[in-house]
Amino acid sequence: MKRKVTKAIFPVAGLGTRFLPATKSIPKEIMTLVDRPLIQYAIDEARAAGIKEFIFVTSRGKGALEDYFDHAHELEATLKKSGKDDLLETLRTTNMESGAIAYIRQHRALGLGHAVWCARRLIGNEPFAVILPDDVIAADKPCLQQMVEAHAEVGGNMVAAMEVAPDKASSYGVLDIREDMGAMVSVKGMVEKPKAAEAPSNLAVIGRYILTPKVLQNLNRMKSGAGGEIQLTDAIAEEIAKSGNVYGYRFRGQRFDCGSKAGFLQATVAFGLARDELRDEFQRFLFSMTAVQKAAE
Ligand code: G1P
Repeated sequence: MKRKVTKAIFPVAGLGTRFLPATKSIPKEIMTLVDRPLIQYAIDEARAAGIKEFIFVTSRGKGALEDYFDHAHELEATLKKSGKDDLLETLRTTNMESGAIAYIRQHRALGLGHAVWCARRLIGNEPFAVILPDDVIAADKPCLQQMVEAHAEVGGNMVAAMEVAPDKASSYGVLDIREDMGAMVSVKGMVEKPKAAEAPSNLAVIGRYILTPKVLQNLNRMKSGAGGEIQLTDAIAEEIAKSGNVYGYRFRGQRFDCGSKAGFLQATVAFGLARDELRDEFQRFLFSMTAVQKAAE
């Protein structure tokens, strides 16, 4: 029987310089889409996929993340006393069971592969997930859950994948497809941020992974790749030759690049419109803004 995926790594050590000055004093992952921090979306997705242990790879200045997942007893008591049960429920989604969450420091910013490697001792010898909270995915069935189900069939290593405009492929890990089976593709190569002319396809890696512990062993060698960083993509690509077991999974859902300002704004609009209590007023506002914009042109 294939081992269940119950652990997930959340690499959250990045400085978030693209969002300065906001990120001068708050971690990027605490920035909110409507009223929930980016990290909450990632945690909810992981929970829906059956993840029980949450491993954060952090860095200096990320204390607010630890506080966020702490139980706020006083606040809970106040809400309870005033009968605000809805808010109490909302607040409780941020609570973590004791011992279910761990924080590891990445002492030097050596790349995504290195960040994941920092969590190796907490992973041990079992498959694990990696979630990049910058990639927010709106989907009927959460993306990682779709992947866990697909992974239960094929095992091995699996990355979320999405077609991107060919001129954007150089911003991603890109898959070289061996066999296209529809939602799933088997992979014969993977390149991190290829030059536009060298991209093997326009099927890009999005920040959801289910990996075997062998990838962590590959990272032991600390080989640096694109941008001089230790790349997760390279460590996964090594498994293609070794085990042949690497798959891309075209998830169903809409991905927002919340690592960029434009993507963050788009996500804000999409998640705002998805909320029943906000939709009508927000939609009216967006229409009126569009009309003003058109009139000005
Ligand atoms: C990382 C990965 C890249 C992947 C991307 C998805 O890059 O290294 O392979 O395509 O996330 O968002 P980053 O965006 O951190 O540079």
